[in-house]
Amino acid sequence: MNRENTSTAPASTASLLDPFSRSISYLRLSLTDRCNLRCLYCVTEEEAEGSLCKLQHEDLLSYEEMLRVVRVAVAMGIGKLRITGGEPLIRRNVLDFIGALGAIPGLNDIRLTTNGVLFADKAEQLFAAGVGKVNFSLDSLEPERFARITGKDCWHQVWRSIEKAMAVGFTPVKLNVVAMRGVNDDEFEDFARLSQRLPLQVRFIEFMPMGASSRWNRGMYISSDAIMATISRLGELIPMERAHRDGPARVYRLGEDALGTLGFISPISHHFCDHCNRLRLTSAGALRSCLLHDEEIDLRPILRTSQDDALIRAAILQAIHNKPKGHQLEKRLRDSGGDCHGRMSRIGG
Ligand code: 5AD
Ligand code: SF4
Repeated sequence: MNRENTSTAPASTASLLDPFSRSISYLRLSLTDRCNLRCLYCVTEEEAEGSLCKLQHEDLLSYEEMLRVVRVAVAMGIGKLRITGGEPLIRRNVLDFIGALGAIPGLNDIRLTTNGVLFADKAEQLFAAGVGKVNFSLDSLEPERFARITGKDCWHQVWRSIEKAMAVGFTPVKLNVVAMRGVNDDEFEDFARLSQRLPLQVRFIEFMPMGASSRWNRGMYISSDAIMATISRLGELIPMERAHRDGPARVYRLGEDALGTLGFISPISHHFCDHCNRLRLTSAGALRSCLLHDEEIDLRPILRTSQDDALIRAAILQAIHNKPKGHQLEKRLRDSGGDCHGRMSRIGG
């Protein structure tokens, strides 16, 4: 890596405003498209049975290449990074990589999204490397159902990771629950009670029709408002101050004494595009300005043929310039049933 070229110019946050005056400050970095689970909303039935069509090793960005992009992005004003996948913790030497990220000056907020299968044994090292916040995907509190949803009987392993995260001091620890009618809609109240008992943020996410997830159908979709109505039967949902919120979730506490909170993420019913501050880098090196728009800028040719970081800066500015105003998912669903072609495991949720 050519450190000489890595710009340390003062962050010019103004240049990271997109055409709709949204300030872009958050990069989501997918380390791999591979995963050790086969969640039903992430893969098709055929894929769940056979092997997934995966990127080849040479298609993936190397850690060095990723670090180069992150250094440039941080110098431009990106202060927050989320590590995602696929499942990021299956990539070899991930702890060394995260340690190197933690040493980048100006990058003070590193977060992780994981399925939790491999987290418990790495928890302390991740925390020491500077990852302070962690989101787990957990769509059921029932081990057998979890196995049906993910294709793997490892609920207890994941739960051990969640307990470990709380014990080690990650704050907050969030659980992502994709709300699916006929799959886990009878557990919303149990999840809500869990947020009373433990200092977790349980976040219900509206099921989105992503490209490869052929198992999405309209009947499985449940709106956040419907989930809130169900949970309200248990007690008062008290809205949290904006300061306690983070990202696209609307956040509540279920009663005054709850130790944790409940978040509602509504990409379909109340989309939050007006406040979106994100940019994504896929594991194959594509800069993507919206989860739900397939337009990408391929950084690989730049990274592999040039030492000039100005080209990376220009590509980041271009991606920000291209950021669409909104995903218009409702309209796309109305017009064609059309979904977006990128797959979650490749883009990094
Ligand atoms: N709809 C909604 N949420 C999804 N996730 C993955 N696929 C979908 C989908 N089709 C969520 C998972 C994961 C997070 C990164 O994205 O909960 O934790
Ligand atoms: Fe893996 Fe996450 Fe996809 Fe589940 S949703 S298969 S945990 S990448």
